[in-house]
Order: sequence, then C-alpha cells, then structure tokens
Amino acid sequence: MHAVNMLYAQQNNNYICAKFYNQSIMQVAIVGTGYVGLVSGTCFAETGNNVVCIDVNEDKIAQLKSGKSPIYEPGLDVLLERNIKEKRITFTTSLAEGIKNAQIVFLALPTPPGEDGAADLRYVLGVADDLSKIIDKYTVIVNKSTVPVGTAEKVAAVLAKNLDKSLYDVVSNPEFLREGVAVEDFLKPDRVVVGTSSDKAKKLMEELYQPYVRQGNPIYFMDERSSEMTKYAANSYLAMRISFMNEMANLCEKAGANVDMVRIGMGSDGRIGKRFLFPGVGYGGSCFPKDVQALALTARELEYDFRLVNTVMEVNDKQKLRLGKKIREAFGSDLSGRTFAVWGLAFKPETDDIREAPALELIREILEAGGQVRTYDPEAMANVKKILGDKIYFAEDQYDALTGADALVIVTEWSEFRNPNFEQISNTLKFPAIFDGRNVYSLEKMEELGFYYESIGRKTVHENLRNKITVNNGTGIRERGVLD
Ligand SMILES: NC(=O)c1ccc[n+]([C@@H]2O[C@H](COP(=O)([O-])OP(=O)(O)OC[C@H]3O[C@@H](n4cnc5c(N)ncnc54)[C@H](O)[C@@H]3O)[C@@H](O)[C@H]2O)c1
Repeated sequence: MHAVNMLYAQQNNNYICAKFYNQSIMQVAIVGTGYVGLVSGTCFAETGNNVVCIDVNEDKIAQLKSGKSPIYEPGLDVLLERNIKEKRITFTTSLAEGIKNAQIVFLALPTPPGEDGAADLRYVLGVADDLSKIIDKYTVIVNKSTVPVGTAEKVAAVLAKNLDKSLYDVVSNPEFLREGVAVEDFLKPDRVVVGTSSDKAKKLMEELYQPYVRQGNPIYFMDERSSEMTKYAANSYLAMRISFMNEMANLCEKAGANVDMVRIGMGSDGRIGKRFLFPGVGYGGSCFPKDVQALALTARELEYDFRLVNTVMEVNDKQKLRLGKKIREAFGSDLSGRTFAVWGLAFKPETDDIREAPALELIREILEAGGQVRTYDPEAMANVKKILGDKIYFAEDQYDALTGADALVIVTEWSEFRNPNFEQISNTLKFPAIFDGRNVYSLEKMEELGFYYESIGRKTVHENLRNKITVNNGTGIRERGVLD
C-alpha cells in the first residue's frame, strides 16, 4: 500500500509532519520498550508506519497505554501523544500479538554486562527463540541492541532451529541515539548503519529509513560483523576521548594549567574537533561503561591485547572517585557530622537515567565516610529513591538541598544549575564551598564571589580558605566576611 511519508520541520521545538504520498506504510514491531525501543518505535510511527511496542514489563505497558511515557526524554511526550491518537503506535505485553503483522521486528532488548563483563545475550537470544516458534511469514529480525560481533549469526542459528530459512533474515542495525537528545538524534541521524547480506532485507530497511536521511545523511550498508563492531568502535572511541581529557585535566591541576583553555586550544584543530572533550567525573550511563568493557572482552576472546581500551576503563574508574577524593582531602577522611548538597543524579543532563551514574558512586563514598547527603535532580530523583530510599534526603528544589549542608557538590550539569542564585547558595551553606565535577562556573566568577571552589583540571579558587573548612566546623569562613 502506498501512502504516507513525512518530512520534518522543527517549530517551537515540536516536530510537525508534512505528508508525501510516495512511500509504503510499514508494519513494525519493537521488542523491548525502553529508552531505545520507545524512542525508535515512536519515531517510526511519526513517519506514518504502524508500530507495535512490546515489553514484558506490565506496568510500563499499562502506563504507555494510558498515554504516559515511563521515561523522561525531551520531545518524546508530544510525539507519543500524537501517534497514539493517530493509532500509529500501540503497546502490548504479548509477543505473538505484537509481531502478528510485522514485516520488521526490532530487538531493543537489554544487553547488560554478564559476570565476566561480556554482553549478556540472554534476552536477545531468548526472544529469538520465542520468535522462532511464532513467525509464520517472511520477517526481518533486526538487532538494535548493542551486541558483540557474531550475534547476528547467533540469532540466525536460534531462528534456524524452528524456522525455514526463507522465513527470516537477521540484520544488525546499531542505534547511535544519545539520551537527552534521543528524539532529535533518531529523526535526524548522522548516519544509519545496517549490516546485512540479504538484498530483500536491505530493501525493506532502506525504505523504512528513507524519511530520516532526506537531508543527505547516509545509510551505510555493510556486512553484519562490521556493523556490530562499528557500534563498539564508536562508543569506545568517545569514551577514550573523555578518559584522555580526564587524564589531561588531572595533569593540568598539577602543572597549574587550566584544562578549559587547553580543551579550547586543542579542539579548534579540525583534525580533533570540539565535541566530547569535556573533563569531568568520569563517563557513566547505560552504554559507555558496558560497551567498552564488552569490547575489551571481545578482544580478549580473540586473543588480541587491546591495551588502549583496557586503559580507558582504568582511567574512568579512577576518575569517578576524583570528586570524592577532593572532598575528603578538604574535609578529612571522616565525614561524620558533615552534610553535602549534591546537585545532579542522572548520568548526564536531560535524562532520568541513573545507570552507572557517577553521582551514585560519590554518594556511596560520602555515606561510607560517615557523611550525609541532601540531593536534588530535576528528573532522576524517583529512580534514585528506588535504590537509596531513606539513606539520603531528596530535596524539594536545588536550594532546599543546601539547607544545613557544609558544601555544594555538582555532579550533573543541568542547565538550571548553571546560573543559580549565588547569594542564596552562600547564605544557606555552612561554608561557601563548591566542589564542581563538571566545570560549570568560571574561575573568575568564583573568585569574585568569594567561594572556596574546586573543579576538574583547574586551579582551586580561594585555596587559602581550605583550613577553615577542615577545622572550623561551620563558622570560620563566614567570620572572615566572605560574600557577606
Ligand atoms: N540507552 C541508550 O542510550 C542506548 C543507545 C544506543 C544503544 N543502546 C542499546 O540498546 C539496548 C537497549 O537499551 P535501553 O537503554 O533501551 O534498555 P532499557 O533497559 O531501557 O530497555 C529494555 C527493555 O526491554 C524490556 N525487556 C526485557 N526482556 C524482554 C523480553 N523478553 N521481551 C520484551 N521486552 C523485554 C525491559 O523490560 C525494558 O523495558 C541495549 O543493548 C543498549 O546497549 C542504548
């Protein structure tokens, strides 16, 4: 059936569609309705396809059926609402019902690290096995999960147990969206990578992705193994840039250089580029840590000593402890009687995802050293409550987190933390001290406002106040009249 195709124009941050009658409506099923599955499903529906999202989590499906997104992702709500209303996207917990009409079934399932660090393929292969028992017409099975080299072959082998080869093709189609800008990334990808050796599957994938590459961005077709490897290469390379800059930042601190200046100086070289050069408290999230680890494992299995990747992980583990170390160096290793206001819990801004979030590591350290934590995050507090419950205080807003706290610690650079009321911060904290894991504020501003300020890869501001923090238990700095 020839019908709807859509073009996008961004107006008031919402995507609107223009319809062109030159493309087939495709029947798409997505198995696994998490960050990737829900964004992909919604965006596939947005271009006019019929999408069924499937998940084993009944609460999630019930929430989606009532029109609510279980995750926070900018722009997703609007698209979801529109496509539910237009009946282009539906939700179910039944795999058989969900894939009944599907031409293409995407697997957007978890691939967490197993005990040895390798990607755990239990969900992917489990669903492949289930599919092999219910598929009754030609279907393209697409691995959108991040999976190690050779997984497409493993999925095909599972399907082959119960299905005739003519009934399926297995395709690798890694996803490159970034949480926080996932909708935009999906609708306007830098590139789409498709690994397949089947012309039939290639045609269907090309047709499905056409609306997203109208501005000229490429769809790269390649073999399955190269496609699978591309995803790990991209994530590990980006993680390596971050680890490189974190090492550079630590060296800058020792050398008396300012890593922000170094970053700007080197990033303006066209061969290097400006993005992904920001030092901080280590990379986190659901992808980089597990993907770098999985690549290291793949290398080991193939008896290749991929030293760079191993070092990237070591550097990151160390960097996650960096802010906690700075706090303990200032306040002493025993933090009993101390309270810290922690701004930011999500592993990065504009998401509620807390998987491998550096904030969790820091909070654990503070609690272990006897300290207390008052925290605020615009979106991620509900997720952290589920794991830390009453161990820490969840504040009403960013200023409530400061009440009675000895110092402010910034772990996630949400935009509302960028230009706060500094006077209120100073007046509410016991000490006007800020430990900034994301270099959110300029050194000049901190100097001028009189904060004791530690950041990453830059000099400590008002270092002379440090003794006051350690010994005066709440009164020293203020007596000196800083900021007052
Ligand atoms: N999150 C990202 O930014 C991102 C980006 C690119 C790639 N990826 C990759 O995509 C994959 C999915 O990641 P995610 O972040 O969306 O994970 P997620 O945990 O948010 O979502 C996975 C979903 O699968 C569901 N599920 C588990 N078993 C199931 C089954 N048998 N049948 C149906 N549903 C089932 C879970 O309930 C969950 O809702 C991973 O391999 C990840 O590495 C993630």
